[in-house]
Amino acid sequence: MSEKFVSVSDYEREAKQILPKAVFDYYFSGADEQETLADNVAAFSRWRLYPRVLRDVSQVDMSVSVLGRRLSMPVCVAATAMQKMAHPDGEIATMRACSSAGTGMMLSSWATSTIEEVAEAGPTGVRWMQLYIYKDRNLTLSLVRRAERAGYTGIFVTVDTPYLGRRRNDVRNRFMLPRHLRMANFDSPDLAFSVEEGYGADSGLAVYVAEAIDPTLQWKDIAWLKKITSLPVVLKGILTAEDARLALQYGVDGILVSNHGARQLDSVPATIDVLPQIVEAVEGKVEVFLDGGVRRGTDILKALALGARAVFVGRPILWGLTCGGDKGVTDVLEMLRDELHLALALAGCRSLKEVDKAIVRKSGFYSRM
Ligand SMILES: Cc1cc2nc3c(=O)[nH]c(=O)nc-3n(C[C@H](O)[C@H](O)[C@H](O)COP(=O)(O)O)c2cc1C
Repeated sequence: MSEKFVSVSDYEREAKQILPKAVFDYYFSGADEQETLADNVAAFSRWRLYPRVLRDVSQVDMSVSVLGRRLSMPVCVAATAMQKMAHPDGEIATMRACSSAGTGMMLSSWATSTIEEVAEAGPTGVRWMQLYIYKDRNLTLSLVRRAERAGYTGIFVTVDTPYLGRRRNDVRNRFMLPRHLRMANFDSPDLAFSVEEGYGADSGLAVYVAEAIDPTLQWKDIAWLKKITSLPVVLKGILTAEDARLALQYGVDGILVSNHGARQLDSVPATIDVLPQIVEAVEGKVEVFLDGGVRRGTDILKALALGARAVFVGRPILWGLTCGGDKGVTDVLEMLRDELHLALALAGCRSLKEVDKAIVRKSGFYSRM
């Protein structure tokens, strides 16, 4: 570990120095007042760990099965769009780093590398496709088919983005992709977000979403998705027990508790705070995951203790990518692995099976009851 990078926040600080302002703002920002952006991180500190001792923690097994695939640790990479703004290797670098770390990568529909290029970068790696449902269902279907052919083993369909959340900095910056880049999985320039005109006085991406993404999306479309693919389908962006129960009725294979990194509806709860009620509603019927604000090993341990099978990280990966391409992403993943390993050992857990509700409680008044 270099003395410069001792925590994820060191990567964030460095990335802020390196990236053009409009790119850093796009990566960093949340929606509106960014209440949830801060809370996603802060909420982890409202939960306290209750370690057990004298348990021979010289060996700690962190391996886990996620959607039928064995991973070396319960820390996966969330879909973040347009990674070539961070580093010329973009998503290719992220896939390489995930393969060598033995963990899974979720590729954004809005990647600046193609589905096939990313597959080639990590032929043995675990990868899943994040899907936005476009108004054009044939286009949506073709993304699914390409992912299937290229060996992606799950579809994470994003359900919290009928419109893009209002990210004020992106409006101020009139955010667009830099001229040399495009969303690589689309042929036409308007769907590749590579036209320079027509966005008006707004975030270019918000205009793009309003034009291309289907705001009529509803539960029957999940039934459609389940019908057209045999891959596991995970709903990304569930925040209530009610929707978790509906998701089960529609036969989904997993739930990702997510508020889109606080970039959609502001003022929603931090994901760690709603995780317990969703886990309870799901009753162990499908795998439940969490993303949002995960920055430290203890955050991961808390999420696992509250019932997540694995967590996903978004921004920390972008900071690592900015600072050092695939090596930077590897460093961030290995840092989180080391921190989780230490947290597990210090909490007296020798494997993920030993991580349960008993080791975590909400701090404050209610923790004494
Ligand atoms: C810059 C950026 C781009 C994102 N792009 C996508 C995307 O294309 N599709 C999607 O479903 N989620 C997207 N997300 C949300 C992430 O998948 C994830 O939910 C979130 O980043 C987790 O929070 P964290 O950044 O605090 O770890 C994006 C998030 C960020 C920060």
